[in-house]
Amino acid sequence: MKKEMLLEVSNLKTHFFTDDGVVKAVDGVSFEIHKGETLGVVGESGCGKSITAQSVMQLLPYPKGRVVEGSILYHQGENVIDIAALKPASRGMRRLRGNEISMVFQEPMTSLNPVHTIGRQIMEVVIEHQNLDKKRAKERAVEMLSHVGISAPAQRVDEYPHQLSGGMRQRAVIAMGLACDPNLLIADEPTTALDVTVEAQILELMNKLQDDLGMAIMFITHDLGVIGEMADRVVVMYSGKVVEYAETDKIFYEAHHPYTQGLLKSRPAIGRHQRLVPVTGTVPNPLYLPKGCYFAPRCPHAMDICRETEPAMFAVGEKHWAKCWLHAEKGEGTA
Ligand SMILES: Nc1ncnc2c1ncn2[C@@H]1O[C@H](COP(=O)(O)OP(=O)(O)OP(=O)(O)O)[C@@H](O)[C@H]1O
Ligand code: SF4
Ligand SMILES: [Mg+2]
Repeated sequence: MKKEMLLEVSNLKTHFFTDDGVVKAVDGVSFEIHKGETLGVVGESGCGKSITAQSVMQLLPYPKGRVVEGSILYHQGENVIDIAALKPASRGMRRLRGNEISMVFQEPMTSLNPVHTIGRQIMEVVIEHQNLDKKRAKERAVEMLSHVGISAPAQRVDEYPHQLSGGMRQRAVIAMGLACDPNLLIADEPTTALDVTVEAQILELMNKLQDDLGMAIMFITHDLGVIGEMADRVVVMYSGKVVEYAETDKIFYEAHHPYTQGLLKSRPAIGRHQRLVPVTGTVPNPLYLPKGCYFAPRCPHAMDICRETEPAMFAVGEKHWAKCWLHAEKGEGTA
């Protein structure tokens, strides 16, 4: 059965215009998310994961950061909306943000206001997006807190963020994100700040809620272990570009890009919160990117052509692409 399309990102370019020059934070990224599935986005720090998400949500620090090219097509039944063409503060965008697409950030306090109760914050989302009266909105807030596994929700609803543990706060933020029943939840490293036990609980919760509510998730992480647990398909990013794109099993067992292979080798056996260090060397400075393949200075397989010409995205298997000259003979594809 063909899956229904939800989000189609094509050739997305989001650049920052800084005093030192243009930072091409996202530079020609394409991927798709179908209804109800989880797309994992993985890569080292600074590779453009968060800026990709913020582009979809139109939450960029405008005017410094701007989508300069590409499209972000959101499928709403028969309607197709190009988010890239909407103004961040427009009514259309505000309606999407919250009603259709929600975002959960790494640090719950980014999303929570310390001077308001948890309940009031969930109620605000519900009142704005679902037109409920106060009484009904509070009932909904209690319902949501219970949904995300917060015990004594009728009491917690009147508590302030500082009265909750880190894990509880993140659950509350997820409750806020889910309060309007989104079709797409963007989770940007939602568990990185939590300890391993709480992380496991939150991941399980997100999987369960996804089954119950049928929403799609764009799950951003630097942790391949988490990707293995959560994602149906995976986008591997490096220096603002997608370097490999495939179903999760293929990424784990048939990785074609030397960067992905390096990430897999570097997976810590224990201690999930270490930063990824796929191979020696560091990611290039975005203001001084190397010629050709950006990974060439760190790649154990680099050839002359790699240092001269940027590789295309080559189809290396069914619904599997890698941006690497080693796979050029398989023919160029589109991802
Ligand atoms: N406000 C900004 N001004 C200039 N450059 C920025 C700004 N925000 C992000 N960038 C640049 O955009 C690039 C991508 O950043 P992004 O935050 O998307 O990385 P990331 O993959 O989410 O990393 P992390 O794993 O650390 O969260 C980086 O090179 C970063 O320096
Ligand atoms: S294109 Fe060349 S340098 Fe880049 S990943 Fe492939 S082999 Fe390595
Ligand atoms: Mg980030």
